[in-house]
Amino acid sequence: MPYPEIRPRRLRRTAALRRLVEETRVAPAELVLPLFVKEGLTEPRPISSLPGVVQHSRESLRKAAHEAVGAGVGGLMLFGVPEQASKDETGSAGLDPDGILNVAIRDVIAEVGDATVVMSDLCLDEFTSHGHCGVLAPDGSVDNDATLELYAQMGMAQAEAGAHVVGPSGMMDGQIGVIRKGLDRAGFQDVAVLAYAAKYAGAFYGPFREAVESTLQGDRRTYQQDPGNIREALREVELDVAEGADVVMVKPALPYLDVIAAVRDRVDIPVAAYQVSGEYAMVEAAAANGWIDRERVILESLTSIKRAGAQIILTYWATEAAHLLRRRY
Ligand code: PBG
Repeated sequence: MPYPEIRPRRLRRTAALRRLVEETRVAPAELVLPLFVKEGLTEPRPISSLPGVVQHSRESLRKAAHEAVGAGVGGLMLFGVPEQASKDETGSAGLDPDGILNVAIRDVIAEVGDATVVMSDLCLDEFTSHGHCGVLAPDGSVDNDATLELYAQMGMAQAEAGAHVVGPSGMMDGQIGVIRKGLDRAGFQDVAVLAYAAKYAGAFYGPFREAVESTLQGDRRTYQQDPGNIREALREVELDVAEGADVVMVKPALPYLDVIAAVRDRVDIPVAAYQVSGEYAMVEAAAANGWIDRERVILESLTSIKRAGAQIILTYWATEAAHLLRRRY
């Protein structure tokens, strides 16, 4: 009777053996928690399509930041949600030092200082009345170059507020270079840029739109990428690196693991991935129905994203996952 001489199962026999040969381990310090803060709120408000995630008040934001630091989370990514009355055609509340996002950056820095990495979303969509990531030309298209100048100013305002890292997510051509130059000119050479380099115009951002009360009409296909394209993603990444990005990010994460792996092969700087709202909502919905083991799926998805090549993962589960990981290792 022929028998296998090579037996991979030997190293799977006990939990200790499996632990010894485990190739990919996610650490809490690699996780970044996205947080929403809404102008004028006194109590946190749930987001129905993101169960467990809330729009924070200024006070509850500080508390959530503190808890994330306590769990060992590596960073926070802040999103501001202005009141409707604060939105205008050019998203000026995003540049205003007293706009909700800049105020929130100051609050969080006052709370956690350098104990974690405070990042801010650098994009106009939460602040524009039309919900696009840039300003509109007379024909209604998003005006790339007019938007760049606003991004540069927004970056300076966020750095002034104390952000350690700014995260341009608008997919305008040339945005990294312009933001980098603006930061340098204003004396913020040490503020890093995490570029949403390969960002796809998919359908996985649905719940996020509820979280930021987006008013977007139409879609973002003239600036975000087509889901079928990977070579184009590498080109975007190379441009961002050349323009001075310190970290490049792929978004969404789980449906784009091949893109993460290709980007990892191509660059030497850290690669991040954003496990977006739709990815989160699908797991929560299935778990709520009792169809999957929620905690195991959370950890498996994070492990897969890391295995593909992301060393930084933005996830709405960051604080919880950090606790789960601590229990596991
Ligand atoms: C743009 C931005 C978006 C997300 C992060 N930054 C929305 C968009 O591009 O439409 C989506 C994140 C998520 O879905 O979790 N400011």
